[in-house]
Amino acid sequence: MTALEHNLVLKEKEKVSPDTYVLTFFTQDIPQAQPGQFFNLATPYYLRRPLGVLRQSADSISFGIKVVGKGSKALSQLRPGDHLTALGPLGRAYDLRRIEKDSTVILVGGGTGVFPLLYMAQRAGEGAFEQKICQIYGFRSPEDSFLIDEARSLCDDTIMASDSGGLDFHGHAVAALEAKLASLSEAPAAIFTCGPEPLMKGVIAVGKREGIPVQASLETRMGCGTGLCRGCSVDLIDEKAANGFRRVRCCTEGPVFPGEAIIWR
Ligand SMILES: Cc1cc2nc3c(=O)[nH]c(=O)nc-3n(C[C@H](O)[C@H](O)[C@H](O)COP(=O)(O)OP(=O)(O)OC[C@H]3O[C@@H](n4cnc5c(N)ncnc54)[C@H](O)[C@@H]3O)c2cc1C
Ligand code: FES
Repeated sequence: MTALEHNLVLKEKEKVSPDTYVLTFFTQDIPQAQPGQFFNLATPYYLRRPLGVLRQSADSISFGIKVVGKGSKALSQLRPGDHLTALGPLGRAYDLRRIEKDSTVILVGGGTGVFPLLYMAQRAGEGAFEQKICQIYGFRSPEDSFLIDEARSLCDDTIMASDSGGLDFHGHAVAALEAKLASLSEAPAAIFTCGPEPLMKGVIAVGKREGIPVQASLETRMGCGTGLCRGCSVDLIDEKAANGFRRVRCCTEGPVFPGEAIIWR
């Protein structure tokens, strides 16, 4: 095995919504992932599948997984005791280095994008960084929502939005973000987002309008996950480049990018 490759044994599996599972594996000696980094999990099919970290401790790691196709289905059908290999931690994490300590960072997620942001809230609670966190997570309906108690236990400042109502905020996560910003006396230092494209585009537009930097984590389709195949290319605005953009690999230069630089294709 390479230093990046780890053997994982499934400890437990929990169904948290009609199509979403949390898989927790026993681990040994896996480096602590930074929020936004991911692991590439082996499946019975040719390519590994990238998953963001949901939780990590000294002896276990958890991933949330939404069943969308055959790879995620195979992972959701694992049983305690089953094992697989995973490469990671991979990619570049959300970057807090230039964000003032004691300032607030708002996390805005939806769908599978909730998982890496919950991990950021976990790490904040463990004192891994000194910025304050506010979480806003959006779901279609209360029936589609998941891990609400976990989110609230990680951070008091948590807003659950639902398009159909029945949670804290009736409406889209982007509308919840706008309402939150209007209620604050001081603008947050940054917004970190992950989720479906319309959500991230909406969050980036709000950030641009309000002058708040947004870091967005892309769930691009991937091949190798390690920079070799270029199957995960993303274009970023680059005014210095002859054609106005540069092509980067989501798996190594990302998956987290400055929101305003992303060219959505
Ligand atoms: C950095 C990163 C982190 C991720 N974190 C998570 C996570 O924490 N939890 C989670 O459930 N998923 C996550 N994903 C997405 C996950 O990797 C894909 O859903 C998974 O690889 C799909 O594999 P599959 O074999 O089930 O689907 P396939 O059989 O390959 O495809 C089934 C359908 O899903 C679509 N699809 C496949 N992959 C993606 C994708 N990445 N984005 C949009 N549509 C896709 C296909 O176009 C197709 O319509 C992440 C992706 C990246 C790049
Ligand atoms: S997935 Fe192969 S280069 Fe990114």
